[in-house]
Amino acid sequence: MEQNRRNFLKASGLFAGGALLNPLTGYGFNSSVNETIKVALIGCGGRGSGAAAQALSTSQNVQIVAMADAFKDRLDDAYKNLTSKKYKDATGKIVDTKLKIDVPEDRKFVGFDAFKKAIALKDVDVVILATPPGFRPLHFEEAVKNDKHIFMEKPVATDAPGIRKVLEVAEEAKKKKLNVVVGLQRHYQANYIEAIKRIHDGAIGDVVGGQVYWVGSSPWMKERKPNQTEMEYQMRNWYYFNWLCGDHISEQHVHNIDVANWVKRAYPVEIQGTGGRQVRTGKAYGEIYDHHTLDLIYADGTVISSQCRQFEGTWNRVDEAFVGTKGRIDSFEGNKAVLKDYKGGVIYQHDGKADKNPYQVEHDELFAAIAKGEYKFADAENGAKSTMTAIMGRMATYSGKMVTWKEALNSDINLFPDKLAWDAMPKIVPGADGLYPVAVPGKSQVI
Ligand SMILES: NC(=O)c1ccc[n+]([C@@H]2O[C@H](COP(=O)([O-])OP(=O)(O)OC[C@H]3O[C@@H](n4cnc5c(N)ncnc54)[C@H](O)[C@@H]3O)[C@@H](O)[C@H]2O)c1
Repeated sequence: MEQNRRNFLKASGLFAGGALLNPLTGYGFNSSVNETIKVALIGCGGRGSGAAAQALSTSQNVQIVAMADAFKDRLDDAYKNLTSKKYKDATGKIVDTKLKIDVPEDRKFVGFDAFKKAIALKDVDVVILATPPGFRPLHFEEAVKNDKHIFMEKPVATDAPGIRKVLEVAEEAKKKKLNVVVGLQRHYQANYIEAIKRIHDGAIGDVVGGQVYWVGSSPWMKERKPNQTEMEYQMRNWYYFNWLCGDHISEQHVHNIDVANWVKRAYPVEIQGTGGRQVRTGKAYGEIYDHHTLDLIYADGTVISSQCRQFEGTWNRVDEAFVGTKGRIDSFEGNKAVLKDYKGGVIYQHDGKADKNPYQVEHDELFAAIAKGEYKFADAENGAKSTMTAIMGRMATYSGKMVTWKEALNSDINLFPDKLAWDAMPKIVPGADGLYPVAVPGKSQVI
């Protein structure tokens, strides 16, 4: 039985869309009640633990069977956290946690090659990739090579060679009919889906401008500890190093930039922008900027302005707005969306009070598709192109130049270390004063 199940879930990767026929019965296959979909979690931090809990809260029988992290303490914390929660089965009954999380010591993997060991497990059907984004191309490639369905967090890379790798592997995933969901969860959020569908149907005419924002406070930061190697320090404080994070313009603001691309059904042909480090100038803030502002210029001449900054004690806005030739949308906040004409008339109003949490929806839909043997999700290409847009924005603010899509995507600047080991050196290291080199517009070679 187990072998049939495994073959079946694997086979779901080999057939074109639509429910599979069970070879034994000739009827549609649905494992939602009786079959267990086995998951490996790669990257056991905040989001990985959240994604794992969401996978376990779908109405499929899902079980976490392996965990991998660079650090043992992070893995142990996540295991403790996940096993302290209560989970329900498909009928809503609380079940024994062991039925949901079966990760004995020999399926807990630690270190830089932990991902390989977890992904290699034959029993694993789905992998959750939730490490810092610098590792995503490598981990995505391994997952597709091993025929796994994938949930991977945004962003999906931190430099152009990484994006090119993800685009190449995305094609392979399509050929193998492996479902790939990327955690750009606005694509699974009803107010965005409904409003943007209407925008695409012409409700506000042609979209000719807009603003996208992530302006707000600063995230966590980890101070250097005695005896840490440079590699360990950067891995612990990953947010502030581009090879791992990509800068917050990509790590965070990719969500809003992606909405601009989604609304325009295109990616910018050119970007220019300005940015810098105004507030976070200390050693612990590595090399990233703390503010960026961009013109995203699309082939039809539309310019969408983008702003992101991470300053404590300042005005907050995480939102998008667009203007069309016949109307506008000013906000998507609070699960809402109102499309208006220029006389103030309401064209469409989405009241999202009853909408589901999109972080849950992305897992509900992915696991339902896998259970039914459907090939439904191929998010990697857009995930890569929206991440590329954000990286291109970083190239623009770091260089101070007008950057074209072509030159950005073809950039050979590879931020990834030549060797992954705790005693190996990342490519960026601090100077004698302990400060990391920071890009200087007009001077630095960043494309
Ligand atoms: N969609 C969203 O709204 C959303 C929200 C938060 C985070 N994220 C994304 O999720 C990812 C993780 O963010 P986080 O907040 O969970 O960070 P985190 O630091 O809490 O977790 C990352 C984990 O990955 C581990 N890790 C690092 N390198 C690894 C490697 N090579 N192999 C295995 N494990 C490794 C770290 O030790 C850590 O436990 C990021 O890409 C982030 O942008 C998305």
